[in-house]
Amino acid sequence: MPRITGVDQQKCTGCRKCVQECGFFRINRETKKAEYYDPMGLCFWCGHCIAVCPENAVGHEEFGDAPCEFSAMPDQDRSIPFKNLANTFHALRSIRRYKPEPVPRDMMEKVLDAIRYAPSGANAREFKVAIVSNQQQLHELGEGVMNTIMENPVAKATYGLIFEFLKKAYKNPIYFDAPHLVICYTNADNGIEDVDAGIAVTYGRLAAEALGLGTCWNGWTMIAFKMNPDLARLVKAKGKHWGIFTIGQPAVAFARTVPRPALAVKWLE
Ligand SMILES: Cc1cc2nc3c(=O)[nH]c(=O)nc-3n(C[C@H](O)[C@H](O)[C@H](O)COP(=O)(O)O)c2cc1C
Ligand code: SF4
Ligand code: SF4
Repeated sequence: MPRITGVDQQKCTGCRKCVQECGFFRINRETKKAEYYDPMGLCFWCGHCIAVCPENAVGHEEFGDAPCEFSAMPDQDRSIPFKNLANTFHALRSIRRYKPEPVPRDMMEKVLDAIRYAPSGANAREFKVAIVSNQQQLHELGEGVMNTIMENPVAKATYGLIFEFLKKAYKNPIYFDAPHLVICYTNADNGIEDVDAGIAVTYGRLAAEALGLGTCWNGWTMIAFKMNPDLARLVKAKGKHWGIFTIGQPAVAFARTVPRPALAVKWLE
């Protein structure tokens, strides 16, 4: 289990940044230095105290990899100019045509690293990830998803015709013949895992976009897994909540953004 082990009194200057960041730190009146005080064990391992201390004085165990000093980051540039970010939001499309070549492992690891850094409710980080790349396995899963949806009258009414159309265009219509399916899944149940799944997928998709990869959410698989959780066993992703997307090299290039309606906003002033 991750653990904050205390404050290195030799390094601490008493600057109070940890105290301002987290209620589990206080300044000792005599030493004028910080101490960690969490008698109820309420720390939820967010790591902010580690990141905020200018002296790297906050001790920790089992949080994962070592924190990276911003000054040691590659090219030290961690801000995205807003215009680039806005362009990405406007240009990012769901990709439904893929080249058959697999995504190089180093690129996939970058996508997974983005998912690793996605926020989660209460910093629970309960998600595991399964990447399905075997085409036979993807085919069997796609068939299972389609059959499950078609056996449900309400779901069939919504998706039946789309599936008929897709069957004419793809060998594996549920996954658009993509080389991989990324499945984020968890068994945890604190009421907001579905949101966590959405954020995890969104981080992964944004990283993929920046790498020139194409992705598409696969709600069909999520719906089918909810109807028939045993289906998730096929790809060893048995859980209660899922966030799922296809990923691969895009075989389509868009020329412009899509039109979108204005957002319904109430300015309650
Ligand atoms: C939660 C969620 C589930 C989705 N599931 C599917 C899906 O099962 N199949 C599919 O082709 N697209 C799926 N999509 C993609 C949407 O259809 C797509 O985002 C929408 O049409 C807008 O297009 P864009 O992403 O290119 O802007 C899903 C999107 C979201 C957010
Ligand atoms: S942020 Fe670091 S240096 Fe500042 S008071 Fe806390 S432990 Fe001490
Ligand atoms: S890891 Fe987060 S919750 Fe725990 S002591 Fe540090 S700042 Fe507070």
